Amino acid sequence: MGSVTVPLPVDELAVLRVRRSAKWRTYPPDVLPLTIAEMDFALAEPITEVLREAVSRSDTGYAMPAPELGEAVAMFAQARWGWPVEPDSVTGVTDVSTGCVQLLRACCRPGEAVVISPPVYPPFFDWVAEAGARLIEAPLRQDGSGIWRLDLDALRDAFGARPAAYILCSPHNPVGRVHDRDELEVVAQLAHEYGVRVISDEIHAPLVLEGAAFTPFLTVPGAADIAVSLTSASKAWNLAGLKCAAIVTGSPAMRAFAGQLPPDGRWRIGHFGVLATVAALTAGQPWLDALLATLEIRRRQLGNLIAARIPDIRWQPPQATYLAWLDCRHIGRGEQPCEKFLSRGRVALEPGPRFGPPGSGFVRLNFGTSGAVLAEAIERMAAALG
Ligand SMILES: Cc1ncc(COP(=O)(O)O)c(C=O)c1O
Repeated sequence: MGSVTVPLPVDELAVLRVRRSAKWRTYPPDVLPLTIAEMDFALAEPITEVLREAVSRSDTGYAMPAPELGEAVAMFAQARWGWPVEPDSVTGVTDVSTGCVQLLRACCRPGEAVVISPPVYPPFFDWVAEAGARLIEAPLRQDGSGIWRLDLDALRDAFGARPAAYILCSPHNPVGRVHDRDELEVVAQLAHEYGVRVISDEIHAPLVLEGAAFTPFLTVPGAADIAVSLTSASKAWNLAGLKCAAIVTGSPAMRAFAGQLPPDGRWRIGHFGVLATVAALTAGQPWLDALLATLEIRRRQLGNLIAARIPDIRWQPPQATYLAWLDCRHIGRGEQPCEKFLSRGRVALEPGPRFGPPGSGFVRLNFGTSGAVLAEAIERMAAALG
């Protein structure tokens, strides 16, 4: 773990509130924002160093992703997951959102369908529309223990309608599920059987917590022929504003598919994004390990706080991410729980219905913050119900 301290430090609230990012500018100052997927931890030192150095040299021009970005992605994938990636099979893109929309445009003819599995990251719905495609929902299902899993029967039914693509969220936001290898094997088999492209959004992959193991989709037998992976350092190292992500392919067919993206795209990647991503992937692993240890502490703290203060909330601790998907259906349906926590408790959370119909009565809580903020948020949420 090197010399990085655990838990990772977080500035005082008054200092956090000076940040100008979306999380801190959306609500009035009396509201605690536990919403959008940005974290409150101080940046990793290798990242601050590379950015400071670039600013000091007025090195603020266009990005030059190759060859360092591909080499860094390959190095990290091998070190973290034993996944061999060819550096030149990596294509830089502005962000995961842009990459996904462009991939959908490249594989969908007008009016063709794309499958997603709600509850899921809300922009998935918008990306499909933006690409001019039709949406088919194959919702997750909750098993007997309350764990949200891919519903492989629903996926088979959806693939039977011959969609052009499936956007796999792996790990899955908002439920924090790390899909099992055997589940992913079935997804790959179904995709082959029905001729469906899989776009595997793996942005949360570095954020797999203790007790779970991530399977890169392209390492599943047959997947590399029909799937591409989208990856980024933006969630794990908090770099969303810097604009850099990567498409990874593992076969000539998928390399040709990714090759259809607009060539001008390389000029739309953030220079700071590339610098910070390369620093994160090559020198940011000790910090990432400290982050995961910190999130483990917060995940346990959240469980204890919920049990002690709002025991009616049901949840399954996430296997990945710093996002908790809380079942508040005893409080109300639709967005009612979220509205109550905001209006009476002054705590902002993401309303479950934004993630699709299965999200009615749920909220998503971001615990990528200090123990003090988390404790204060749960206290306020409990008071809101009093
Ligand atoms: C599953 C998922 N995909 C994509 C994104 C957005 O990524 P980007 O900012 O690189 O477009 C997020 C952001 O939270 C996410 O959770």
